[in-house]
Amino acid sequence: MGILEGKRILVTGVLTDASIAFSVAKLAQEEGASVVLTGFGRLSLVERIARRLPEPAPVLELDVQNTEHLDTLAARVGEHVDGLDGVVHSIGFAPQTALGGNFLNTTWEDVSTALHVSTYSFKSLAVACLPLMKEGGAVVGLDFDATKAWPVYDWMGVAKAGLESASRYLARDLGKQGIRVNLVAAGPLRTMAAKSIPGFKEFEDSWPEKAPLGWDLSDTVPAAKACVALMSDWFPATTGEIVHVDGGVHAIGA
Ligand SMILES: NC(=O)c1ccc[n+]([C@@H]2O[C@H](COP(=O)([O-])OP(=O)(O)OC[C@H]3O[C@@H](n4cnc5c(N)ncnc54)[C@H](O)[C@@H]3O)[C@@H](O)[C@H]2O)c1
Repeated sequence: MGILEGKRILVTGVLTDASIAFSVAKLAQEEGASVVLTGFGRLSLVERIARRLPEPAPVLELDVQNTEHLDTLAARVGEHVDGLDGVVHSIGFAPQTALGGNFLNTTWEDVSTALHVSTYSFKSLAVACLPLMKEGGAVVGLDFDATKAWPVYDWMGVAKAGLESASRYLARDLGKQGIRVNLVAAGPLRTMAAKSIPGFKEFEDSWPEKAPLGWDLSDTVPAAKACVALMSDWFPATTGEIVHVDGGVHAIGA
């Protein structure tokens, strides 16, 4: 029996089969969950990728900047499952001007887009799913360690710092409803989001060398396993936590 047997899980953020969310959806199904996906923009592409999962999974449209999408999400998910036990936020975006070493010149307009999509949406998604989480459950988001200023990560780093804080406030406010809220801070992985960061190579070169356990830039499974574990019944008293899945880099001095 899998660790998510009988659980109903919403996974956002599948774009390609390299997406962290794709690995989460696959592992969740393998561990016994019913999975519903959301996609942004290129829905036919997401549907094509979804067909590579072990089981068919419905794909619903969700742009986290679209209030109507959020307001109707619970009803649309409810057409496929009678409730949710887990929600995965695997969404991030920052305009090119907010990344790559342009920190001092990025406009508020571009910063606000990064914060809306990558930070505020963690709260919006969780709240949109509440009507389906009457029996409690788990919300998990994908983080990149925001305790340091990294090369080229710039305003996305600020967005992740906000995500870490938002996660703690959500944990505070949803705890009484039996909802746990946690983040998985993954090391660098070669996904579409990562490839769109100018200078991402700086991470690629140094991370595997620094990590005590080593680090495979193309393997999304370790981060996905942590997401699945956090949604299982094996972390019943853990909330507001950040689990690092980075080969150990966060623990090591320069
Ligand atoms: N790849 C890495 O190195 C890495 C490391 C740590 C954390 N993360 C985080 O993991 C998460 C998933 O990213 P990924 O690396 O799998 O890349 P990805 O490109 O596969 O996924 C990013 C997802 O965000 C979605 N998205 C963008 N704007 C959206 C919007 N307005 N509404 C809804 N969805 C939107 C995209 O459609 C895509 O599915 C992100 O939060 C990212 O910051 C990535």
